[in-house]
Amino acid sequence: MRGILFSLVLICITTSAFRPHVFRLRSTKLAAVDSFDFSSRSGWDGFYDGQGSQPYEWHSSISHSIIAQHLVPGDANILVLGCGTSTLSADLYDEINTAKITSLDYSTNCIELMKQKYENTGRPGLSFICGDAVKLETLDHPELFTSIVDKGLVDAIMTGDAWDTAVTDIFKGASSVLSHKGSYILVSYKLSTSAKNFLNNLPEFTFTFNLPGSNDRVSISRAVKI
Ligand SMILES: C[S@@+](CC[C@H](N)C(=O)[O-])C[C@H]1O[C@@H](n2cnc3c(N)ncnc32)[C@H](O)[C@@H]1O
Repeated sequence: MRGILFSLVLICITTSAFRPHVFRLRSTKLAAVDSFDFSSRSGWDGFYDGQGSQPYEWHSSISHSIIAQHLVPGDANILVLGCGTSTLSADLYDEINTAKITSLDYSTNCIELMKQKYENTGRPGLSFICGDAVKLETLDHPELFTSIVDKGLVDAIMTGDAWDTAVTDIFKGASSVLSHKGSYILVSYKLSTSAKNFLNNLPEFTFTFNLPGSNDRVSISRAVKI
């Protein structure tokens, strides 16, 4: 009986038709993934608790090289929002030889794991900090960032109540920490027309959706600071 129940839960989790906001994961932690609110900090802390050095990649159908191609050659100071335990930050650092990549997540467990994993890997410009992406105006940063990369953060925020206020605040804060004409690269589930209309109405950015490399489930978008 328990076996049948588990199989049913697994089918529900992995079938996006049942849960439009459930993420598709390359992981063995599916049962745990279903048991928390993706928009809660304590939920994410629990998710990363004791995870170890094995990364979790969200939107694994999009290669990190493709994301790197959407960054501009002069990108010298990149902020990765909601970094999780993805290898994205290190891969971007290696691939584009960027001087500085700051990766932010609000889960202390996640940031501890990432600091331990990368502290002795010979990447002096790669740093991990704990912070809230909804409050970027309060971020202590010596210089403006040239680009922001978000893979799965806005998706997670959009599963919560009052997501519209949170997303508005993220982009308002992003504008305050980005340099002139800086870009926000958004890797997210394919956006509905209403979500695109919502983003197009944000006053700080101009969006281009479905950039090359997007697929039928995941979209790469660029928002340029006005
Ligand atoms: C779907 S995961 C994506 C992780 C990683 N970027 C990847 O591609 O594998 C979303 C991440 O955003 C973080 N997060 C959610 N809300 C946040 C917020 N308000 N501020 C900072 N991080 C947040 C979560 O802790 C989680 O690590």
